[in-house]
Amino acid sequence: MTTDLTITRPDDMHLHLRDGDMLKAVTPHTSADFGRAIIMPNLVPPVVHTEQARAYRERIMAAVPAGHAFEPMMTLYLTESTEADDVIAGAKDGLIKAVKLYPAGATTNSSSGVRDVSKVMPVLEKMADAGLPLLVHGEVTNAEIDIFDREKVFIETVLDPLRQALPELRVVMEHITTKDGADYAAAGNENLAATITTHHLIINRNHILVGGIKPHYYCLPVAKREEHRLALRAAAVSGDPRFFLGTDSAPHTTSAKESACGCAGIYSSINTMSCLAQVFEEEGALDKLEAFASLNGAAFYGIQPNAQKMRLTKQDEPVSYPGTVVVGDETVTVFDPGYPLHWKVENLG
Ligand code: DOR
Ligand code: ZN
Repeated sequence: MTTDLTITRPDDMHLHLRDGDMLKAVTPHTSADFGRAIIMPNLVPPVVHTEQARAYRERIMAAVPAGHAFEPMMTLYLTESTEADDVIAGAKDGLIKAVKLYPAGATTNSSSGVRDVSKVMPVLEKMADAGLPLLVHGEVTNAEIDIFDREKVFIETVLDPLRQALPELRVVMEHITTKDGADYAAAGNENLAATITTHHLIINRNHILVGGIKPHYYCLPVAKREEHRLALRAAAVSGDPRFFLGTDSAPHTTSAKESACGCAGIYSSINTMSCLAQVFEEEGALDKLEAFASLNGAAFYGIQPNAQKMRLTKQDEPVSYPGTVVVGDETVTVFDPGYPLHWKVENLG
C-alpha cells in the first residue's frame, strides 16, 4: 500500500481568486501548493479587456507571498461585444491563456455573459486560428430546463453544434458534473478537454439536501446524483489526458453563503491536494494523481510541467485544516469533505 508519494507540483486549471481583501486572503493558499492556476475573470466588473487582465495579474502577484513559485494564467471574460483584436493581441503577448464563456445568468457574476453564441462566432474563429482555448461554463440558462439537466442540455444544444461548426476551436468543458459530460469529453479529439473539481469527486446532491440544507456544498454546476459522481471519479483516475484538475475553488463569505439566497461556490484551495490524495487512494489509483493534477493540464495548455515537487504522505492521525479563513471582518468556510483527511502535503521546491 502506497503511503508516501512524490509528484510534480500541481496546477489548478480553474480558480477564482476575487479581488481586494479576499484576493489577499486566499491567494497564498493556492500559491503554496500550485505552480500555476487558470484565473477566472468573473470579477465585478468582469475582466473583459487585455489591459484589465494585466492589471489584475499585478494585483494577484502582489498577494503571492515571497518564496512561493506561482504564475497566474490570465483569462478574459467573453461578452457579445468582445473585440477579437484585443483578445488575440493579449494572447500573442503571452498574457492571455484562454477566454471564458459564461452563458448569461448561469452563475456568480455572469450577467454580462453570452446570450447568443452566434454573436461571438467572429471572436471564436480568430481564437481557433490562434489556438487560444475557450473555457465553457456548460449549463443552459433557460428557465424551463431543470437545474439538474442543464449540463446535458448544454452539451446537446450549444457545445456539440459549436464544435461541429468550428472543429479547430480548442475547448475546455469546465467543472463537469455529469456522466454525460465525462462521456462527451472522453469521446472528443485533441481539441477537447474537461476539468473536474475536487468537491464533485466527493459530494453528490444528497450532501446538499439531506438532513437540512447545506449551503457550503452549494456550487454551480450543482452536484448531481451518485452515478454522476462515480463517472467523474472514473474519468479523473483514468489517466486520460483529456481530464485534469480545476478546483473551481470559489470563495464567498460565510454570511453570503448562509443566507436565504446563498451564493454558489465552494472554497477548497487550502485542502484540495489532501482531499485528492484520499480520493485517488480510495480508487486504488494513486499512481494517476500526478497525471490528473500536474501533467494533463500542462500538456493541454502547451506548457512544461512544473520543475518543483510535492510530497504526499499518509498519516495515522488525521491532518488538520482550518474550518474557516479570516477575510477582514468576515470568514470564508473551507470545504469539508465529511471525513477526516490523512494525507499530509509538503512542497519540496
Ligand atoms: O459555484 C460556482 N461559483 N460556480 C461558478 O461557476 C462560479 C463560482 C463563483 O464565481 O462563485
Ligand atoms: Zn468557476
